[in-house]
Amino acid sequence: MPPLTSDFPNGFLWGTSTSAFQVEGAAAEDGRAPSIWDSFCRLKGRVDNGDTGDVACDHYHRYAEDVALMRDIGVGAYRFSISWPRVLPRGRGVLNEAGLDFYDRLIDRLLEAGIEPWACLYHWDLPQALQDRGGWANRDSAGWYADYAVLCARRFGDRVTRWATFNEFSVFTLFGYALGWGAPSVSDRGEHLKVIHHTNLAHGAGVDVLRDLVPGASIGAVHSFQPCRPADPSPENVEAAALFDELWNLCFPDAQILGRYPPRIARAIEPYVQAGDMARICRPVDWFGMNHYAPLFAQAEPGAVWGCGFGAPPEGMPRTDIGWPLQPSAFHEALMQATARYRLPIYVTENGYGTKAPEAPDAQGIVMDRERLNYLQACIGEMARALKDGADVRGYFVWSLLDNFEWGGGYGTRFGIVHVDFETQTRTPKESAKWYAALIGGALAGQ
Ligand code: NOJ
Repeated sequence: MPPLTSDFPNGFLWGTSTSAFQVEGAAAEDGRAPSIWDSFCRLKGRVDNGDTGDVACDHYHRYAEDVALMRDIGVGAYRFSISWPRVLPRGRGVLNEAGLDFYDRLIDRLLEAGIEPWACLYHWDLPQALQDRGGWANRDSAGWYADYAVLCARRFGDRVTRWATFNEFSVFTLFGYALGWGAPSVSDRGEHLKVIHHTNLAHGAGVDVLRDLVPGASIGAVHSFQPCRPADPSPENVEAAALFDELWNLCFPDAQILGRYPPRIARAIEPYVQAGDMARICRPVDWFGMNHYAPLFAQAEPGAVWGCGFGAPPEGMPRTDIGWPLQPSAFHEALMQATARYRLPIYVTENGYGTKAPEAPDAQGIVMDRERLNYLQACIGEMARALKDGADVRGYFVWSLLDNFEWGGGYGTRFGIVHVDFETQTRTPKESAKWYAALIGGALAGQ
């Protein structure tokens, strides 16, 4: 049975998500300075097709059109991120009024359209100027981040009450500091451990800042949460999956919500933890932000920074054309795991379907993205089942509103429910957007 909105409590929030680097473009405009992802994109062969964030979806100029699209889809909330190098080009010190103005305009436009702004302070685009001072591996980074949070809270806190401190700590730290697949392209266990701890400290400082400065703030952090399983039952792969689970799923929310690192990380990270740190990290939050896509299969990988890595999903499990396993019931599992472990209200801050298919509109202007629509429908059904089973899920955001810069996948991997023609910047709602609109009561459904 397809899910119905009546399966969800009154006031359940339906939204869409994006992030600054992935949609804004205008990379060198109005005083914005480079981030570590601008630098990474310029390394040869690291991003498919040599794509960059220079133009992206040009959301910086087209935000009003994008807000109107969201209004037509009928969303109640929009999760976006603030670009640190746009508002503080050097990372610290002199602020950039023109950059701050952009977020003023975006927030005001959202509020006029009746869409609640959900601001995330960090979605992976550290100012390059701070990387030049050691980036997250420098313990001072928690203080740099706290100052940036003060600026955003003071500027936007009169209109934005929903704040996420960070997006997917585990992914940008693992990819950037262990696997070498993302900015700043380091592969070193000691550096990785420092970065885990310092971003946790930054999170705690950010929660305190937001709590102090934003009246009625509702604060959380966004975690990538994917049930992690061994690629096969061999003892080395079972152990690899337990370690990968700590690295991917647990070492951030455990520290932030339970006040301790999971056992394997706790042993390794000890040299970097100072007296009082765990109390600084574990500050009360209002909700758990969950990004869910697919189950993970891990295996031992001798020679890798942590001795473990991605394994193949079991034979016969369907996969997308970008290789991600398709198993909607893993979403129910993730929601129930997070409920049992953290006992917080949950917002699903991302869920979606990516493909390398061009998904271009046909002669009638239709983009038939049947697989995405089916997957979203199945996942929302699993979320309804988790609610019945006791998970306190309060809202759901589709990733993503728009096709956008998919990190190492560039523009060749599409997650949007709205198609973007990157030559012309034309937006075309896909069939999944119409289906979502029908579910949540948006006007686009009938078009
Ligand atoms: C999670 C990340 O937060 C987002 O930036 C990314 O595009 C999606 N997953 C899809 O990979």
